[in-house]
Amino acid sequence: MSARKKARIVVLGGDGIGPEVTAEAVRVLEAIATRYGHEFAFESHLIGGAAIDATGSALPSQTISACGTADAVLLGAVGGPKWSDPNATVRPEQGLLALRKALNLFANLRPVSLHPALLDASPIKADILRGTDIVVVRELTGGIYFGEKHRTEDSASDLCTYTVNEIQRVTRVAGKLAQGRRRSIVSIDKANVLETSRLWRSTVEQVLSSEFPDVKLEHMLVDAAAMHLIRKPSSFDVMLTENMFGDILTDEASMLAGSLGMLPSASLGAATLGVYEPIHGSAPDIAGKGIANPYGTILSAAMLLEHSLGLSEEAEAIEKAVAECVSKRVFTADIAAGGAAVTTKQAGDCVVNRVLQ
Ligand code: IPM
Ligand code: MN
Repeated sequence: MSARKKARIVVLGGDGIGPEVTAEAVRVLEAIATRYGHEFAFESHLIGGAAIDATGSALPSQTISACGTADAVLLGAVGGPKWSDPNATVRPEQGLLALRKALNLFANLRPVSLHPALLDASPIKADILRGTDIVVVRELTGGIYFGEKHRTEDSASDLCTYTVNEIQRVTRVAGKLAQGRRRSIVSIDKANVLETSRLWRSTVEQVLSSEFPDVKLEHMLVDAAAMHLIRKPSSFDVMLTENMFGDILTDEASMLAGSLGMLPSASLGAATLGVYEPIHGSAPDIAGKGIANPYGTILSAAMLLEHSLGLSEEAEAIEKAVAECVSKRVFTADIAAGGAAVTTKQAGDCVVNRVLQ
């Protein structure tokens, strides 16, 4: 058992179902602290639409400074119809993007694995799904998301830029990860069209061949990758991709796991501080109903324990508990396929009880 650990965890519930799902993940972390004798202090702060309403900014300076000095950040989701005017100058999503940038969290890990009990929840045939176990490593602080933007009355532009250094550092994260898995990376780009992709391709190749010679590398164009993800998802181990391609491909990949609600993520930088959040959004259509799937956020809390606090055994305890609840068909509506569904809180209870057992 690991030594007693003290940690300060900032919780950013955000908007929509965000506060509901983070509440369950916090309860699970509290259960871990009880069972393993750790001391976790939780501190809530504002982000997104809730922060805009309270302060006028999607990422108040108080939130940035609290996150910057924390051991880890657990985040729900941002956005909602109330703030969705595309012409608004202040938008909830800016809070999330600015947080990633301010903390320099350049590598976003999005594991996609599927539980046998969820084979039927996916719109893809079970035969195709079997054996799927992917981690997408998405570059998170560069590319078209952060390039210069221009707008005139009759035109608009978003600049896509990457530096060699930005590509190298995220490639190293993917390389290390692949060495602990099946040693295979598919790097995604659009090198037949984009200059940034040509730089991406040559830089990835150079880093992996010189520093990770035991890792097999294949390049794949993003359009083909979108197709192969559905045709033969089990052929992928680590997928390495720039920011926007990673955003799009991980929503697609989530359908392999049965629901967007199942998938966790970790946003990491050079130090141990990370932001952990489910890959789903704020789901305003079901917000406040207590029926959202908390498993993606709870699994994000497991990633938090592993990557920011170095508590692998505890992380595994959460993963095992979630897997058991899913095996027992403790399903929220999104994965229940019309069958009996539990509430967000009941799904959280199931995990908490198993952690405490
Ligand atoms: C995600 C989200 C964000 C992104 C939005 C909310 C800015 O879709 O984390 O995938 O595009 O990165
Ligand atoms: Mn997204």
